[in-house]
Amino acid sequence: MAGNTFGTIFRITTWGESHGPALGVVIDGCPPGLTLSAEDIDKELAWRRARDTRVSTSRREPDLAEILSGVFEGRTTGTPISLVIHNRDVDSNAYEHIWNLFRPGHADYTYWEKYGIRDRRGGGRASGRETVARVAAGAVAKKVLDQHNITVLAYTLALGGIRAQKLDFDEIYKNSLFCPDPDAVPRIMQRLQEVKEAGDSVGGVVEIRAQGCPAGLGEPVFAKLDAMLAAALMGIGAVKGVEIGSGFAASDMLGSENNDPLSPEGFLSNNAGGILGGISNGDEIVARVAVKPIPSIEKEQQTITEDGEVTTLSVKGRHDVSAIPRIVPVCTAMVRLVLADMLLQQKAIR
Ligand SMILES: Cc1cc2nc3c(=O)[nH]c(=O)nc-3n(C[C@H](O)[C@H](O)[C@H](O)COP(=O)(O)O)c2cc1C
Repeated sequence: MAGNTFGTIFRITTWGESHGPALGVVIDGCPPGLTLSAEDIDKELAWRRARDTRVSTSRREPDLAEILSGVFEGRTTGTPISLVIHNRDVDSNAYEHIWNLFRPGHADYTYWEKYGIRDRRGGGRASGRETVARVAAGAVAKKVLDQHNITVLAYTLALGGIRAQKLDFDEIYKNSLFCPDPDAVPRIMQRLQEVKEAGDSVGGVVEIRAQGCPAGLGEPVFAKLDAMLAAALMGIGAVKGVEIGSGFAASDMLGSENNDPLSPEGFLSNNAGGILGGISNGDEIVARVAVKPIPSIEKEQQTITEDGEVTTLSVKGRHDVSAIPRIVPVCTAMVRLVLADMLLQQKAIR
């Protein structure tokens, strides 16, 4: 299967299926000399793990990374870094009753049409589990960014139709939803509970901010920074939209409202989301992603079999009620990967 490689200099190739023995990533182009341990990676993986069964899957994976290559005496050597994360809690029983059906909203139908074969043990490469390798790679990209004091923060802006009214970044890691508004948390939890009981699912919005990025990252014209961020974020399962800065709202604004005036101290506003002409302008980079509701739901829906017969389907098993909050660390990882790659590309020029 092609299309499993991402990046130009800092380049990753991920592999593995949700119900196979393991998933992993090979990272090529990582600079030598960075301190890196399995614990550094496990720390990031822990944020992606299902922590609250009221919201997320009851599948319990330890998600511990093993470093197979590219690190010697705790430091990267400049050679390919190979990471493996073993699947420990695999159970395909819940997939038996749907083995020849296409789940509405999932990739079963398109994988079948494309390849004529699909991994019936689970979601295969289209499973949310695939993102574990992205997060592992993102932990290594973080090491590159740390050297330049670039930080990436992501959080839940809206979930189940309830929006965070305040952005208190100190609160993000204090609740299982990664929500910066503690007052919104109980209301969202209540909504998720109701939706779960109704056998349904919900979506929401994740916001990502990168601070400390120098001006000059991004390659005109096809590898613009905003284009690469959009590709990185849209490449995550369940992401259906990406905005940079004022995003879709810019279409309703006047030029005089949307432009960010310049001063010797910097930009006076940030509707651009830190990117102009596909190149970072030194301001905070701001992106948002729209996340659709989880396709696998208990509520009965019409579908067809592989033979084209109409039938109904109720998906049982260990599914998330929403890809949020687990997608939040995945968004962080994808933005880190883009920025690390763009930073190394810029260093190659200047
Ligand atoms: C972190 C994460 C967790 C997910 N969990 C589930 C899940 O439990 N059940 C499910 O049907 N889809 C889940 N998804 C969504 C599917 O992976 C996704 O909807 C599917 O691959 C179809 O792709 P598309 O939604 O981009 O079209 C999850 C996605 C992510 C990123």
